[in-house]
Amino acid sequence: MRRYEDPQKTSENRLPTRAYYLPKGKAKVIDLNGKWNFAFFENGDIEGEIKNWQSITVPSCWQFEGYENPNYSNVNYPFPVDMPYVPDINPMGLYKRTFNLEHENNDLYLVLEGVSSMAEVTLNGKEVGFTQGSHLFAEFDLTPYANKGENTLEIRVRKWCCGSYLEDQDQFRNNGIFRDVYLLSRPKGHLFDIEIKAQDEKIICRANGTFKASVLSGETEICQKQGSAEVVLDVKSPKLWTAETPNLYTVVIESSGEIITQEVGFRRVEISKKNELLVNGKPVKLKGVNHHDTDAKKGWTMSRQDIKRDLLLMKKLNINTVRTSHYPPSPYFLELCDRLGFYVILETDIETHGFAHRTVESGGYVLDSEEWPCGNKAFKKEFTERMQRAYERDKNHPSVIIWSTSNESSFGENQRKMISWLRARDKTALVHCEDASRMGQLDQTDIYSRMYLSVANLCAAAENRDINQPIFLCEYAHAMGNGPGGMADYVNAFYSYDNIIGGCIWEWADHTVMVDGVQKYGGDFKGELINDKNFCCDGMVFADRSLKAGSLEVAAAYAPLTIKWDNSKLKVKNRYDFLAFSDISFKYDISCDGKTIESGEVKSDAKPGEEFYITPKTDLPNNSKYGIFITLTAADNKGEEIAVLQEEIPSCRIIEKVKELEIAENDIAFIACLKDFKYTISKQTGTLTSAIKDGEEQLCAPMALTSFRPLTDNDRRHMKICWDRTSPWQGENYDCVLSKVYDYKVQKNRVIFNMSAAGVGRTPFFRYTLSYEFFIDGSIKVELDGKIREDAVWLPRLGFEFCLPYNKSRFSYFGNGPYESYCDMSLHGTVNWHNSDADSEYVPYIRPQEHGNHYNTRALLIEKSLSFFAEDKMEICVLHNSTAAIEKATHTDEITPSPFTHVRIDYKDSGIGSDSCGSRLDEQYRLSEKDIHFGFTIKL
Ligand code: GAL
Ligand code: MG
Repeated sequence: MRRYEDPQKTSENRLPTRAYYLPKGKAKVIDLNGKWNFAFFENGDIEGEIKNWQSITVPSCWQFEGYENPNYSNVNYPFPVDMPYVPDINPMGLYKRTFNLEHENNDLYLVLEGVSSMAEVTLNGKEVGFTQGSHLFAEFDLTPYANKGENTLEIRVRKWCCGSYLEDQDQFRNNGIFRDVYLLSRPKGHLFDIEIKAQDEKIICRANGTFKASVLSGETEICQKQGSAEVVLDVKSPKLWTAETPNLYTVVIESSGEIITQEVGFRRVEISKKNELLVNGKPVKLKGVNHHDTDAKKGWTMSRQDIKRDLLLMKKLNINTVRTSHYPPSPYFLELCDRLGFYVILETDIETHGFAHRTVESGGYVLDSEEWPCGNKAFKKEFTERMQRAYERDKNHPSVIIWSTSNESSFGENQRKMISWLRARDKTALVHCEDASRMGQLDQTDIYSRMYLSVANLCAAAENRDINQPIFLCEYAHAMGNGPGGMADYVNAFYSYDNIIGGCIWEWADHTVMVDGVQKYGGDFKGELINDKNFCCDGMVFADRSLKAGSLEVAAAYAPLTIKWDNSKLKVKNRYDFLAFSDISFKYDISCDGKTIESGEVKSDAKPGEEFYITPKTDLPNNSKYGIFITLTAADNKGEEIAVLQEEIPSCRIIEKVKELEIAENDIAFIACLKDFKYTISKQTGTLTSAIKDGEEQLCAPMALTSFRPLTDNDRRHMKICWDRTSPWQGENYDCVLSKVYDYKVQKNRVIFNMSAAGVGRTPFFRYTLSYEFFIDGSIKVELDGKIREDAVWLPRLGFEFCLPYNKSRFSYFGNGPYESYCDMSLHGTVNWHNSDADSEYVPYIRPQEHGNHYNTRALLIEKSLSFFAEDKMEICVLHNSTAAIEKATHTDEITPSPFTHVRIDYKDSGIGSDSCGSRLDEQYRLSEKDIHFGFTIKL
């Protein structure tokens, strides 16, 4: 057994973890980030003298600095599961640099904030110690090894160690010194750990020595006291900390000439008798997201700017909670959570998911196998230590409200030990462990936490009296690719039950690796022994943190308000937990067919849970061509938009009467023409094959009935690529559908085809009539009426697809936009006139897939070409790529360019859901009805 394979001894000389701080005054922080000498040993062994030192930037992941290729794995360990052993060929990176020391009388410490997978530290040729636990804080006392003047520091970083068995998180498996590294030079006799709790008009400071503590509100000192071991300071009527009101005080601790500052927030977190989560006595809802450290160019290395950018963007998207999946983040992350206002579920660095596959051939998740490390005695110390190290570093943060033992690691004696340690250490700490909840061990934790329950199952859990705990979805709404859909239903469920406290979307950002301008994923790199393809591209924002429709859908669903058109007025409800609406400005706009008929600004001081109404002053019309809508924009006192929500005001649709146009026919076609237009319908196929306007052909391909869409990541379970579910769409071969004309009849200005549609190798799934009715203004009324076979599975979509010339690609539509929208992902959009063009409709999903749909559309006008008007509603899509080309490509650079503009006029497009890992698409969003009627008018 090699030293790094012994789970009973995973560190040497590492100091016990203390609260994170950077001391000032007589202490000095010596930053060691920057250029280091580096030598990489693929075999893991140093052979001979190192002559060719290279240079590497620290912090970084070596896979992103030219040493080894990235490797993405989800559940599977990227090495044989032979615990605690790791491969004999275990690459090693040797980091070396010098530093100069002036303060010879001070104590000197080395801090490593993140090293994967283990670090062995040497100073001036003498071994200092070693540490495991990639995302955990490690500190070494260098005092006995340091000299005045120049010192040489060496850190050996091994790719694998026995701790790697505890770090099977679903991500690219990176290595190196990937977080900050620095030295602390501290005066002799300095304090070590500090613990500060602010609650109930008191700040309690504890430290191992004598110190002076002062409390500042902003710049103003409000009290101070001297003492030893414990100092209690009184703060009368403090401003409380919540995610909505992140009021902080600064505590300054002075001892031995050192100054340590810590921001503190007064807050009390408890569970009510009704199983609500109470913050300062008030129930809150956690509208959260799971956050991994990820960057397409740097891997796990995140700068302060990167972290700030993430959290500010989350704020903008109305997120109030972060689960630090599945390890503690950089300390700066939590400082910002305190300041900006986020609730944090802090998870320690433990996941052992790969044991699931060892036990069951099917890949199932067997929880009670003996083999899981959580039941392995040899790992007991390491499990507990990882909990301790997370807790001790982060205990002073008001933002951390729940502690999580692990992710996907089953539940055993080792987590029980972690929990009992935590409970003894902090009586107020709330404990989370999804595995414990899943295994029915409800007495172990404070929260009933599950992942990916459907809305129905979530509600059922809330009604289940045996679950006497707050219910929390630590993961839900798997945001892979186009999505997540169904957000509004989840959030409404959170608000429908007192005991559902919320959930965290899986996950924040796509994990990708940028190579020559193309984002790559698992399987794209040489040397990956095992990989999980694009399953790492599942962020609610893209890897560069640009937004997609799903990001905005989250923001709309998480908005601190809801609206409802109710009895001739708009009801606006406050969904904050603490804030009244007093600081919000509301602008409303009522428009008919896109023209404003009334607008105004309103103020309200409605408190959380309260409502106010906006009553129109104008008499609203009863009829409209496209619809009447009321749109409400809420902005904060800085003018930043919080949400734009919309409701339709019911009205009757105006139908214009136009004179009929008789049709002519020849052997092969029906023809309808006047001097400036000519339409041709094929007798053979029943399709519109030509539409000529002013002598110019508009159609490049006939208008064919189709039912397929380029599979989204969420759809893929319905087709071939599917590992644990049946493939319903494959059952009908919806990707290859042929239509059949049985007969047709002509009635003056109308021709009606009697047809069917069937997937190749399958019986018809749809029997229908397709009727075209012509009018003298150049319009055709198209009507599709039919029945879907009783036992046919639900459809991806149903409608017409055709091509226009490439340059006929600018368009305007009266429908849900401006971003793409689907029946279960439309809250973010507003129905109105929007202008666009095929190129701007393209969405660069990492694995190309369905995009560009516009739900709830009433009209589509393609510039200098055809226009379409729905009898009721339709869904449209205008792209410069064909369905086949999108479907075929696996990366954005592989989509074969098309010479055409591709248009879809759809009866319906099924919802998006989040089935790539989440629950199945809700029935209500599937195209599963059997009786179809779809009417629309085409105009030239
Ligand atoms: C969960 C897991 C996450 C991630 C997700 C799928 O089961 O906790 O880490 O793997 O599934 O994207
Ligand atoms: Mg996992």
